[in-house]
Amino acid sequence: MKSLVVFFSETGNTQKVAEEIAKQTEAEIEQLREFGGFPAAKLFKILFRGKHG
Ligand SMILES: Cc1cc2nc3c(=O)[nH]c(=O)nc-3n(C[C@H](O)[C@H](O)[C@H](O)COP(=O)(O)O)c2cc1C
Repeated sequence: MKSLVVFFSETGNTQKVAEEIAKQTEAEIEQLREFGGFPAAKLFKILFRGKHG
């Protein structure tokens, strides 16, 4: 069964780790950029800091 590594990375740190995991496990890899057209970075900001944070 083929695995999929899905990651979100703003600075590239998580991307490096995700790429290594995907390589070592021979998995597919996909960067999470948006949710239904809403930018992932903005969503994280709202989730962690609130709409007005
Ligand atoms: C605007 C923004 C705010 C974030 N705030 C938090 C936070 O308060 N706490 C947290 O655990 N993660 C927070 N995250 C997620 C992580 O800090 C980080 O972005 C994620 O692990 C990816 O790491 P990388 O960008 O270094 O690859 C935030 C991400 C973004 C884009």
